Amino acid sequence: MALKKILTIPDSNLRKKSTEVEKVDNKIKALMDDMLETMYNAPGIGLAAIQIGIPKRVVVMDISKNEKKEPIYFVNPKIIWKSDLNSIYEEGCLSIPNQFAKIERPEKCHVKYLDYNGKEKILKAEGLLSTCIQHEIDHLDGILFIDYLSKLKKDIILKKVSKSKKELERVVV
Ligand code: NI
Repeated sequence: MALKKILTIPDSNLRKKSTEVEKVDNKIKALMDDMLETMYNAPGIGLAAIQIGIPKRVVVMDISKNEKKEPIYFVNPKIIWKSDLNSIYEEGCLSIPNQFAKIERPEKCHVKYLDYNGKEKILKAEGLLSTCIQHEIDHLDGILFIDYLSKLKKDIILKKVSKSKKELERVVV
């Protein structure tokens, strides 16, 4: 396993549409292992492969709040049903450091995917799990949570991130 660098906005990779995985082979498993380690290290509760620069439809998540790790691996996740009822969560993203906004999404959804062993599964998600998997699947289509905000709110976040990046680059000798 290896830690990978997480891309942040405005990296154009984050706007790429990721392609389907043909087979869950050892290479994909190694990718999922690296992604999980990188996500835990960040720390975060979800990570899409494109966030480490790999344009494949792979997501890892762990929303457990206890000490015991409960990772979920998604290959080619696809939403096959979503509820009419929405819920609102304050979302953040490892690719948009330190910025948060309230986002409205379907409260429940069903997701078809392949697991770590390439087995087809269906997840019936609600609450935080539902929001999180929708956020991650958006990444696979090049969509970020800030895209749901008004232009004004989005611009404020973009400016804040670029300002903090510049401050990080500053060197005093
Ligand atoms: Ni994200």
